[in-house]
Amino acid sequence: MKKDLVPVRFARKSARGALRRLNPVSKAAITLAAYAVLSMAFALLTAHAANATAKPADPELVAHGEYLARAGDCIACHTAQGGKPFAGGLKFGTPIGAIYSTNITPDAGSGIGKWSYDDFAKAVRQGTRPNGETLYPAMPYPSYARLSDDDTRALYAYFMQGVAPVHAQNRAAEIPWPLSMRWPLSIWRTLFAPKVQVFDDSHYSDTAVARGAYLVQGLGHCGACHTPRARTMQELALTDLEGDDFLAGGGPIDGWVPSNLRGNARTGIGAWSEDDIVQFLKSGRNLHTAAFGGMTDVVQHSMQHMTDADLLAMARYLKTLPSNHPKETPYAYNAIAANALQSGDASARGAAVYRDNCMACHRSDGRGYTRVFPALGGNPVVQGKDPTSLIHVLLSGNTLEGTKSAPSPFTMPAFGWRLSDQDVADVATFVRVNWGNTGAPVIADDVAKVRKMVAVNAPELPPGASFKH
Ligand code: HEC
Ligand code: HEC
Ligand code: HEC
Repeated sequence: MKKDLVPVRFARKSARGALRRLNPVSKAAITLAAYAVLSMAFALLTAHAANATAKPADPELVAHGEYLARAGDCIACHTAQGGKPFAGGLKFGTPIGAIYSTNITPDAGSGIGKWSYDDFAKAVRQGTRPNGETLYPAMPYPSYARLSDDDTRALYAYFMQGVAPVHAQNRAAEIPWPLSMRWPLSIWRTLFAPKVQVFDDSHYSDTAVARGAYLVQGLGHCGACHTPRARTMQELALTDLEGDDFLAGGGPIDGWVPSNLRGNARTGIGAWSEDDIVQFLKSGRNLHTAAFGGMTDVVQHSMQHMTDADLLAMARYLKTLPSNHPKETPYAYNAIAANALQSGDASARGAAVYRDNCMACHRSDGRGYTRVFPALGGNPVVQGKDPTSLIHVLLSGNTLEGTKSAPSPFTMPAFGWRLSDQDVADVATFVRVNWGNTGAPVIADDVAKVRKMVAVNAPELPPGASFKH
């Protein structure tokens, strides 16, 4: 401190000396100029103070901010299981240790209540904290960098005025020193995170497609899950302009594989109509598939609350993304397996397991019951390159949650507790190669690998009941 003070005092003294040597006219001019500068500074200061004190925000702006917070799915990551909304504490496993999301309620001590608009905008779009630290990119700021100033201001208004303050201290990361140092993150950010920029809609054919692109690439941060990543963890493309890796399918997260969202005929959504996409985003189900894994949260917290116009805009934009495997042939239904099952022939590999365990819901023709039990024929999840999700759903089952527009939940039972790795591999292979599907076979080792990473629990029985004879 002292070291700094010396030159300042010295400078002030010599300035005063210089002033004394000037003639009275120059003195007056300088005093006036100084006064002007001072009053400008004062005006700035008072403007800043007015910004920082909670002036009642425009309710429309707050409501718009709430809508945008839903589009960005802030709540899914910033709320611990069973915790208060936006109070943080959700755990994110990383290869070097766990980190926790932070409290983004307007609590002055433990949340972001004292943050200025600039502090907030920098964290959300550039991934930096007011103290200069860089955030872990688990916070999808490389996507949010596309947010317009107007939208960022609306979000700020919502977090300051529309969210209840919750006192909850942030949890420290569980990453051991020296890996816990944050400066390498700033290098990562400089290399891989885009600069904040005005969204350029001139690349897109009409305003709806451009709106969809803005939502999908920006707030929706769909690529955070659906785009493959490099070894250094950045997404291989952040927009369609950066190449056909964009939304070409991500690596498994918690044992669920985020699908390819490009126009691939079989492994993407090439066969889906715009309306199929809207139905799926809005209700987690359509005639092709049902949501599971991370997509359940996206549908529940985010997509089901979007306006129909925004959902349609996103669907239109997704439909403009060409296939990254143009040689893939379109799906065509084939009746061989259904005919065999219906005539009592279950000699094919996995056919008997299918007949005994699956047929009641997914039917012998693999078409299921639309919007209740998903179709297995033509389903990208079933015939996709990576069978992890398929094996996972067979081992652990899953519940398709109800939404505003489709309130009834449906459950796929777990089979892992009673089918062997070989049985699961056989039935997985059966569904991958029949009804016109063209997936590669699954072997018992594939199943064993997934079994190690997922929860495989037997269903709870009423007291006194037993599965044993
Ligand atoms: C995919 C998960 C995820 C989503 C979605 C997400 N965040 Fe975050 N966010 C995080 C994590 C994790 C951190 C903490 C990162 C760290 O500790 O470096 C964080 C940090 C922040 C911070 C910095 C807070 C602080 O105290 O340092 C702010 C502000 C923030 N997020 C706001 C938002 C807003 C607003 C949205 C929605 C538009 C949002 N986040 C969506 C995961 C997410
Ligand atoms: C947290 C990770 C995550 C995020 C973020 C995410 N998804 Fe997904 N998504 C998944 C997973 C996992 C699946 C595969 C399971 C399924 O089909 O539900 C999936 C499936 C889908 C499907 C079905 C594709 C198919 O072939 O079955 C569509 C469509 C989709 N997502 C669209 C989107 C859009 C649009 C966004 C951005 C608004 C988005 N997703 C954001 C994880 C995510
Ligand atoms: C009681 C009815 C029922 C039975 C029996 C059943 N399923 Fe399912 N299955 C469902 C439901 C409901 C879903 C949707 C779950 C979700 O998405 O959360 C589903 C989802 C699936 C999926 C994921 C498809 C997608 O797009 O989401 C596959 C694959 C699947 N089942 C295969 C099978 C196989 C193979 C069997 C037999 C071993 C089987 N199911 C038995 C009801 C059933």
